[in-house]
Amino acid sequence: MMGLDRGMPLLQYDDKWRLQRKLARTALSGDAVKKYHGVQSHVAALMCNSFLTDPAHFRDHTRLAAGRIIMSVAYGLPVSDAQHEVHSEILCIPLADHILVQYITHAEATLEMISQATMPGAFIADIFPIFRHVPSWVPFISCKKEAQEGRAMIEHLVETPFEHVIKDITAGRAPPSFTHDLLADSSDADNETEYKHAVLWSAGSLYGAGGETTYTTVLVFLICMARHPEIQKKAQEELDKVVGQERIPAPIDRGKLPYVEAVIKEVMRWKPALPLGIPRRVDKDDEYCGYHIPSNSIVIPNVWAVAMDVPSKYPASDFVPERFLEDHPPIDPASYSFGFGRRVCPGKLLAENSVFLLITSILYCCNVSLPVTVDERGQKRQTELSVKFTTGLVSYPMPFECSIEPRSAERSYVVKRAAMDVV
Ligand code: HEM
Repeated sequence: MMGLDRGMPLLQYDDKWRLQRKLARTALSGDAVKKYHGVQSHVAALMCNSFLTDPAHFRDHTRLAAGRIIMSVAYGLPVSDAQHEVHSEILCIPLADHILVQYITHAEATLEMISQATMPGAFIADIFPIFRHVPSWVPFISCKKEAQEGRAMIEHLVETPFEHVIKDITAGRAPPSFTHDLLADSSDADNETEYKHAVLWSAGSLYGAGGETTYTTVLVFLICMARHPEIQKKAQEELDKVVGQERIPAPIDRGKLPYVEAVIKEVMRWKPALPLGIPRRVDKDDEYCGYHIPSNSIVIPNVWAVAMDVPSKYPASDFVPERFLEDHPPIDPASYSFGFGRRVCPGKLLAENSVFLLITSILYCCNVSLPVTVDERGQKRQTELSVKFTTGLVSYPMPFECSIEPRSAERSYVVKRAAMDVV
C-alpha cells in the first residue's frame, strides 16, 4: 500500500528486482567498494572528532556518520562540508550541510515508519488484500490513510537526493556516485524510463537498507564497550601494537587485528541489526523437513535464534569475543546477519569496511565507559547501563547514556588532523 515494493529489499523476485540488484552489484562489488575507502576513513575521523568535542551527542554523530557514507556512495554528497561549502544565496548557510542533515533527519523518520510497517501483520491489508480497495474514510481502516502518508514520505526520501544529482549533472558539477555513474552509462538500457526508475529506487534502497543498519551496529558496540572495560582494553592493546599512536586505523589494518575482529563479530552476533531478517513470501508450495509450506506463506528467517544457537563454552547471551578465537569457533555472524541466498545483503562488503573503520577509530581515540552521575554529596558514580531494543525490522538500542573520554591529547590531535583532511 505504501509502494515499498518499488525498492529492492521488498521487491518481488522478478525482472525489476533483477535489474536493481544488477545495478547495486556494479556499485558494491569487492573492487568497487575500494574506491569508498577514502570516504569511509574520512567519515570515521569526522565522527571521532565529534565524539571528542561533543561526547554527549554520540548517537547523533554515529547516525550522521552512517548517513554520510551512504549519501556519498549513493549520491556523491560531500562528507565534510567545511571543505566543500556551496553557499545557498537565500539561507547563507552551507547548502551541502543543510541538505545532508535534512535528508538524514527525514530518512530516520521514514525508516522508523517503514520498520514498523514491514513487521508482518502490521497492516490488515497485507493479510486481507481486499482491504486495499476500501476507501480511506471508512471507519477502522485508518491504516489506509497511514499508508498514503507513508508513501509520500518514502517518495520524498528517494526522489529528493536523486533530483539533486540530476540538477548537478545538468549543471556539469555532479561528483562521481552510484546515481551519477549509472545515469552517465545507460548504454545497455533497453528502456530509458524503466532504467531511470531502477536507478532511482536502487539508490534509495541503499540509503534505506545501509544507513540505519550500520548506525545500530556501532551503537551496540558502544554499549558493549561501556559494559566490558576489560574487553575494550584488550582490543585497544592489540590496536596499539599494530596501528600505533601516530595514525588512525585504515582499511589496510583489516586482517591484522584478530581480537578486534572477534569483538566486531561478537557485536553482530550478540544483537543482530535485523533479528528477524526480511520476511519472504513463498511463491509456490514447498516442503521443508517434512513440513508443508503452502504457496503465499510468509516465512520469517529467525536470525536471532541462529545467533543464540552457538556451540561454545560461553553462554550465548553473554558478550564474549573470545568465543571466536577458540579452536572450533562458532560460524561467522557475517554468514547470517547479512541475510541469505540470492537476497543476501548486497552492501555487505561496504558495510564491513564501514563498521571496521568506525569501530577501530573509536577504540583508537576514545575510552567508552558506563554513564557517570553525581550523587547528593557531589561524588561521581558510575551507573548501570540497561538498554532496551526496539522491535521493528531494524532493532535499535533505545536512547542510552555512556561516558566517552579522550584516550590522550596526541590521539585527539591525530583525529582532528584527519578530520580536516580533504578526501
Ligand atoms: C551492518 C550493516 C548491515 C547489515 C547488518 C545488513 C543486513 C541486511 C539484511 C539482513 C538484509 C536482508 C537479506 C535477506 O533478505 O536475506 C539486507 C538486505 C539489503 N541490504 Fe543490507 N545490511 C547492512 C548494510 C548495508 C549497506 C551498507 C547497504 C548498501 C550500501 C545495504 C543494502 C542492502 C540492500 C539493497 C538490501 C536488499 C537486497 C535484496 O532484497 O535483494 N545493506 N541487509
